[in-house]
Amino acid sequence: MKVIEPSVIHHIQNGVLEGKDIESYTKRYHEVNYLYEKQREDDPIVYEVYSYSKGKDILGNLNWGLTVLKPVYSHNECNMTKGHFHVNKDCAEIYFGIAGVGLLLLMDEEGHTWAEKVYEGSLHHIDGRIAHRLVNTGDEDLKVGACWPTSAGHDYHAIEKREFGYRVYKRNGQIEFEKR
Ligand SMILES: [Fe+2]
Repeated sequence: MKVIEPSVIHHIQNGVLEGKDIESYTKRYHEVNYLYEKQREDDPIVYEVYSYSKGKDILGNLNWGLTVLKPVYSHNECNMTKGHFHVNKDCAEIYFGIAGVGLLLLMDEEGHTWAEKVYEGSLHHIDGRIAHRLVNTGDEDLKVGACWPTSAGHDYHAIEKREFGYRVYKRNGQIEFEKR
């Protein structure tokens, strides 16, 4: 029997995804500054996204991904991903907390918003009809793994039309929520 090395390694403890067929991109602050109530003047890296997939975007195929959300604050407002609904509402997703601390903001199609705590080992099942956004409430990188169907699609436009119901701030070490 032939035994081969895996083509991709997810360095869970201290690293990121490495290997063949990995796609990645980096977001800088100016690309997402509209998300925040008050903008920063500088332009740091705010998050990195890695994903791994093989084959086609067909029903039954899967992606594996990693989001690294930096501890960047905009006048006390916590760093967040853009957030999205899935285009295909039948496609759920699993998030997996790897490092750091934060929140998974969840919102249904009527705009009701709630959150789950994210930390090392936390596991989150996200229904296909629920919008999802990660928020870093800590002082180190928030690393979250994800597994989702390649046919799910990302609907960012729906979030621009109806934003999540709360903004998240950290003031004097305390997490605070403000209704939009
Ligand atoms: Fe998703």
